[in-house]
Amino acid sequence: MSAGLVIRRVGPEPGLASRLAELLVEVVEGGSSVGFMSPLTQDRALAFWEMVLTSGARGERIVFVAEDEVTGTILGTVQILFAVPENQRHRADIAKLQVRRSARRRGIGAALMAAAEEAALEIGKTVLVLDTTTGSDAELFYTRLGWERCGVIPDYALMPKGGLSGTTVFYRKLNPDNRPMEKR
Ligand SMILES: CC(C)(COP(=O)(O)OP(=O)(O)OC[C@H]1O[C@@H](n2cnc3c(N)ncnc32)[C@H](O)[C@@H]1OP(=O)(O)O)[C@@H](O)C(=O)NCCC(=O)NCCS
Repeated sequence: MSAGLVIRRVGPEPGLASRLAELLVEVVEGGSSVGFMSPLTQDRALAFWEMVLTSGARGERIVFVAEDEVTGTILGTVQILFAVPENQRHRADIAKLQVRRSARRRGIGAALMAAAEEAALEIGKTVLVLDTTTGSDAELFYTRLGWERCGVIPDYALMPKGGLSGTTVFYRKLNPDNRPMEKR
C-alpha cells in the first residue's frame, strides 16, 4: 500500500458526505463515467453520498475511503454492494471506485480494491462483479489487478459530457488462495 495512506470503512459521520461529494464532482468533471452527467453540482453529489452512507448504515453496502494519513484529505473511495436476490447471497458488486486525479498511479486504487476484496472474502462473498467504461484507464487497471474480463456491452451509457460508450464486464472469484494484488 502507498505510504501515508489510511483505508477505513465508513458510515454516516459529520462532513463526510460533503468531502466525498467534492471528490465525485472532480472525477465526473475530469471526464470519467461513474453514473453522472456533467455538470455535476456539489448538491447533487452530496445527495448521492448521503443516500450511499445511509444505505451503508442499513447494511446494504460497505463504503471504504482512502485518506491521507497526515491531512485527512480523501484520496479515493470504493463500495461493495450486496446483491439482493436470495439466490445470490454469495455474490456482490464493486462500484464507484474513484481516486483523486492528483493522487493516481500511486497504488491507491489497488489498495482500495485489496481492502474491498479482503472484506468481501471475510463476510463469505465468493464472486465479485463490476463493469467499467470500455477503453478507459479503469479497464486497464482491473485487467492489471487480474480481474477476469467477460466482454463488452456496446452503447451502455453516456459519457459525462455526452457520447455513448460501451461497458466492459469483469468478475473475480474469491478464495483464500486468490488474494488481491498488493502493490508496493
Ligand atoms: C481507475 C482508477 C481508480 C485507478 O486508480 P489508481 O490509484 O490510479 O490506480 P493504481 O495506482 O492502484 O494502479 C494500479 C495499476 O493499474 C494500472 N493502471 C492504473 N491506471 C492506469 C492508466 N491510467 N493507464 C494504464 N494502466 C493503469 C497500472 O498497471 C497500475 O500499476 P503501475 O502504476 O505500477 O503501472 C483511477 O484511474 C480513477 O479514479 N479513474 C476514474 C474513475 C473510474 O473510472 N473508476 C472506475 C469506475 S468502474
